[in-house]
Amino acid sequence: NNRKTLEGKTVLITAGPTYEAIDPVRFIGNHSSGKMGFSLAEEAAKRGAKVILISGPSSQTINNKNVDLHKVTSAKEMLAKVFEFYDKTDIGIASAAVADYTPRDVAKEKIKKDDDNLTIELVKNPDILKTMGEKKTHQFLVGFALETQNEEENAKGKLAKKNLDMIVLNSLRDEGAGFKNDTNKIKIFTKTEKKEFDLKSKDDVAKDILDFVEAQILK
Ligand code: C5P
Repeated sequence: NNRKTLEGKTVLITAGPTYEAIDPVRFIGNHSSGKMGFSLAEEAAKRGAKVILISGPSSQTINNKNVDLHKVTSAKEMLAKVFEFYDKTDIGIASAAVADYTPRDVAKEKIKKDDDNLTIELVKNPDILKTMGEKKTHQFLVGFALETQNEEENAKGKLAKKNLDMIVLNSLRDEGAGFKNDTNKIKIFTKTEKKEFDLKSKDDVAKDILDFVEAQILK
């Protein structure tokens, strides 16, 4: 399928984890690989979109002239980068696993192991996608939800709370879904619709997600 169904659209995608510095050598992070976001970027570019891919630390690579990759480290950097491009964005897809909390202070020097206990005070990070939802003018916004309980209820709650147009739920209960795997099993919700998909490669999941987005924006 070489149809340029997203020609003329700018798609902004967040991907990967964020790293929150504790001191000059340590950070708080998570196991997100960035694969889902990079697959979405590749597929959107194939469909003719101009893609802004904003990724936290990830070993994924991409080589497509329609994809501008911007590498960031922390949630605050990701937020700033997103809003450099937000006005020009038609479709925003937040697949990044952003750290919810960040150390209140970053130690200037490497923390010594002198004490038996160490307490690091954490403060809430900005919610990037929620901020995108608040500032939405014309953008079509897609979020992800990774839930372990009351999945559908929580996913639909996030759709409303973050002012999204669509949310992709992946369940940790499904074998092969989520995070580090090459496969994913998703359900998509809009305010009025629900669709369940089979377990697939993340490249194929990216196609399903973009097919669904295209059907929504053409309505
Ligand atoms: O609230 P929760 O973290 O479950 O929401 C997940 C969705 O919100 C994902 O799309 C994720 O990329 C986005 N998110 C974000 N910034 C945060 C936390 C989550 O953009 N600080």
